Amino acid sequence: MEKRGKDVADLPWAHLHLPPFPQVAIRVLQLANDENAQLERLCDLISTDPAFASEVLTVANSILYAPRYPSTSVLQAVTVLGANTLQGMCITVGVRAYLGKAMSYPAMRNLWRHNLACAVIAERLAAVGLIDRDVAYTAGILHDIGRIALAVVQPKDYAALLESHRGSPVSILAGERNLFGWDHCETGIQLVGDWKLPSELEPIVSAHHDARRTDGAWNMAELIKISCRMADATGFPAFPGCETTPYSELLSELPARERRLFDSEIAPLADEVAKRIRAIECA
Ligand SMILES: [Fe+2]
Ligand SMILES: [Fe+2]
Repeated sequence: MEKRGKDVADLPWAHLHLPPFPQVAIRVLQLANDENAQLERLCDLISTDPAFASEVLTVANSILYAPRYPSTSVLQAVTVLGANTLQGMCITVGVRAYLGKAMSYPAMRNLWRHNLACAVIAERLAAVGLIDRDVAYTAGILHDIGRIALAVVQPKDYAALLESHRGSPVSILAGERNLFGWDHCETGIQLVGDWKLPSELEPIVSAHHDARRTDGAWNMAELIKISCRMADATGFPAFPGCETTPYSELLSELPARERRLFDSEIAPLADEVAKRIRAIECA
């Protein structure tokens, strides 16, 4: 690990003064992943915050691509989409709300799109059935939560770093440590603890820029590592000067079953990701 900048090297965590994540989104995340048990609780929970509920409904209707009969209640949406998918929508709305004013910076909108792209690709990669698709989507949205938090704390300086940095996805971590005393992976793991998020998120937020395991293991953490780089390659990098891995190389890193889910050309995937992002952004 590279050394932190001299003057920020010992900054305590509290120094960052991170605003709290939307409470309703945290409570949704803490619900057990049990479709039946959570259905009613999820509806009750979302309905406690009417503004949040209405945003979730708009996003839920957008992913159904302008349904003829849009859902007008959380209960309807949960019936159409299922509790786990609606949970993913809640987290999407929560992250967007958390970014708030920081979204006025183009660099932060890129960051947001990178997370959405990672989520869409993670969901697709989970389609083989060994990993839950909705959990994969949520993990994708949250993998860079540390970055989102840094963006909220100091949007101007962080936007300048994101816009000027050139190099591999991992190379920006040193710049973040120089700027904040913490990089986004360290920030992410701290947030999982502070916000009492499910501990399964720890390896995802902290190690998504680590090298892939060489023993062929395939689990959520490995799935997110590659989804993040595929998001970069499909035109949604976390920062514009990010070096991307050639698509053919990314495909060769996938287990054979997952590789079959993708066309050998990148264009169909890039189109699908762009379409999903547009649908959510227009909501
Ligand atoms: Fe990251
Ligand atoms: Fe990423």
